[in-house]
Amino acid sequence: MPRALTMIDLFAGCGGMSLGFEGEGYRSIMAVEFDAHAAATYVANRPHMEGKVFCQDIADVPTAEIPKADLVIGGPPCQGFSNLGSKDVNDPRNKLWKEYLRFVNEADPKVFVLENVDRFRRSSEFDLLLREADGGLLKNYVLEHALLVASDYGVAQRRPRTIVIGTRRDIVDEHPKMGPITPPKPTHARVPDLLGLKEWETVRSRIYDLPWDVQVTDLPTKEVKTIFDKPIPGPFTGLEIHVGRNPVPMSLQRYAHIHPGGGRHHLPDELLSPCWRNKPKGTTDVMGRMRWDAPSPTIRTEFFKPEKGRYLHPQWNPALHPRWNPDEPSNSVNRPITHLEAALLQDFPREYKWYGTKVSIARQIGNAVPVGLARAIAFHVKSELESRGH
Ligand SMILES: C[S@@+](CC[C@H](N)C(=O)[O-])C[C@H]1O[C@@H](n2cnc3c(N)ncnc32)[C@H](O)[C@@H]1O
Repeated sequence: MPRALTMIDLFAGCGGMSLGFEGEGYRSIMAVEFDAHAAATYVANRPHMEGKVFCQDIADVPTAEIPKADLVIGGPPCQGFSNLGSKDVNDPRNKLWKEYLRFVNEADPKVFVLENVDRFRRSSEFDLLLREADGGLLKNYVLEHALLVASDYGVAQRRPRTIVIGTRRDIVDEHPKMGPITPPKPTHARVPDLLGLKEWETVRSRIYDLPWDVQVTDLPTKEVKTIFDKPIPGPFTGLEIHVGRNPVPMSLQRYAHIHPGGGRHHLPDELLSPCWRNKPKGTTDVMGRMRWDAPSPTIRTEFFKPEKGRYLHPQWNPALHPRWNPDEPSNSVNRPITHLEAALLQDFPREYKWYGTKVSIARQIGNAVPVGLARAIAFHVKSELESRGH
């Protein structure tokens, strides 16, 4: 049996990225996450990580605690996108990047994999990173980057993400013809093809079999445990997080008007809010309804608020729809997706254990790297390392 590749997960959140890598046989040996609720979720699903999750600001983790590892995964949240952004490493916004570089230098991984929002590639932090690889603190690494969309890797969600892969220079130099590891090529597409691309996964494939009628609006009452010195309720799992909201009658009337793929632009005038009436263009996803047979849009941290995006459940009275298929049941589900539905669209397993409040669990889910995307990257990096004899 080959030894499992070890990894350190920085800014680990609830562990979406780690879970994808673990699915390909990697073993987490250290994680850093300063939000106690997310860190509690991370450990609850990995009992072997007890004592190895540093629930503190990354800047406060002593260098002596950083082990050697095969991989470093995760990346600092991107803070600024202004064109005025400073490229100065001493700019306070770049503090987290300095920390990231400190970890990479100390752990000396073969590869690091950094995930960030799509706009990261236009940020000053990204410039800083490229500059460090060009003779600076990352001079031992060769960087490759690309914009990956999760649905192109078998996730039922169109979530664009910047992925940067750094390969240690000695590994690149051993096999100059192979070059550095580049981000993986898509495995899925809207239209499958003869070359082996499979068809995109759909919302239906992930959430169709869950109960549509959700009356419960709160997480069940659980014992509050002290974890990382904080009182945190949990764990919640499976249908326990299949919780809805209590929309006011006006919201229900709005939801009823919106067909799959539609949004606030399809509301009759009397149901428009004044701000929508004054701003008839733009923000097409607001109050949007998902489609059963397409990937979902990006699941963000406030997926439970339809006014924030295309988060209405896809089931809508088909009798009202021009392309009604009479085989479909004709009831509508007039609510946003639940926490469980959001977690499944992020490719978490139903039995994942969650700690925290309703709001903090939503944040953990929305912040995560879709497990399937992480797994596709993990698979690719592992096979690329193997083909280079590592
Ligand atoms: C985008 S989320 C990471 C999601 C994670 N990779 C996953 O797949 O679940 C970024 C995380 O960084 C954490 N974070 C931000 N600043 C931090 C800091 N200074 N020290 C430690 N963690 C930090 C946040 O609490 C948040 O959970």
